[in-house]
Amino acid sequence: MADATAHNVGPIILLGPPGAGKGTQAKLIAQRYGIPQISTGDILRDNVARDTELGRKAKAMMARGELVPDDLVNQMVGERLVKKDCARGFILDGFPRTVVQAQWLDRFLAGKLFDNQRPCDPPVVVQFDVDYNILLHRLSGRRSCPTCGRIYNIHTQPTRVPDVCDVDGSKLVIRNDDRREVVEERLRAYDLQTRPLAAYYRRSGRLVHIKGDQDVEDVTHQVAKAIERLRNAPVGTQSGGA
Ligand code: AP5
Repeated sequence: MADATAHNVGPIILLGPPGAGKGTQAKLIAQRYGIPQISTGDILRDNVARDTELGRKAKAMMARGELVPDDLVNQMVGERLVKKDCARGFILDGFPRTVVQAQWLDRFLAGKLFDNQRPCDPPVVVQFDVDYNILLHRLSGRRSCPTCGRIYNIHTQPTRVPDVCDVDGSKLVIRNDDRREVVEERLRAYDLQTRPLAAYYRRSGRLVHIKGDQDVEDVTHQVAKAIERLRNAPVGTQSGGA
C-alpha cells in the first residue's frame, strides 16, 4: 500500500452528534495519515483542568452541555491551526459546531485571518449518522484514559482489565458531561446549532455521510476511502456516500 503519510491531506472535518464516534475515528485517521487531531472538546477540557482563563470561562457552560461562545472557540482553534504540524493537513473533531464557526473557518482556510498565512485546500467533511438510542447507550458506557486519551466503552469496546487502560495501565475516567441529563442537553444543542452545518457544507460538494453504527474498523475504512476520493476533487462537484 502507498505510504499514506507522504502526501498532503488537507483539512478534514468530522461532524456528528455526541457519541457518534468523532474522537474514536479522528485518532485512527490522524495516525493513518500522520496529521494532528484537533479536538476542541479536549482542548477545552485541558483548559478547565489547568484552570486557565479560557477554562474558567468555559467550565460552567460545558458542565450544562451548552456550547462555548464562538469567539472563544474560534480564537483557540486559530492559535492551534497556525502551528507547523498542521501544514500537511489536520482533522477537526468537534469544530465547527455553528454556522458562525464554519464561516470563520472558511475565512481561515482562505488565508484571510493571519499575516503570512497561506491558503489551505477546501475541507473534506464527513458526517456520521447514528441513531439517538445508540448514542445514549454509547455515552452511558464511555470511559477514557486520562494519560493517553484512548477511548473505550464498557458495552462495545471494553478494556482487557475492567477500568484500566490497555496501553498504559492508567485508571479510566468517566467524563463529567456524560451524565444522562447533560447528554440530553448536548444532543439538543447539536440538533439546534450543529445539525444545520451538513446543509452548509453540502454546497461545497465535499460532504460525505457515513453510517456511524458499523464496526469501528469499517467506519475508518469508509472515512479513508472518502478522503482519498474527495481530496483532489474540484469544489462543488461531488458529495454523497463513501
Ligand atoms: P466534545 O468533547 O467535542 O464532545 P461531543 O461532540 O459531544 O462528542 P463526544 O466526544 O461526546 O463524542 P464522539 O463523537 O467524539 O464519540 P467517541 O468517539 O468518544 O465537546 C464537549 C463540550 O465542549 C461541548 O458540549 C461544548 O460545551 C464544548 N465544545 C467543544 N467543541 C466546541 C465548539 N466547537 N464550540 C462550542 N463549544 C464546544 O465515542 C463515544 C463512545 O462510543 C465511546 O465509548 C466509543 O468507544 C464508542 N464508539 C465509538 N465508535 C463506535 C462504534 N463504531 N461502535 C461501537 N462503539 C463505538
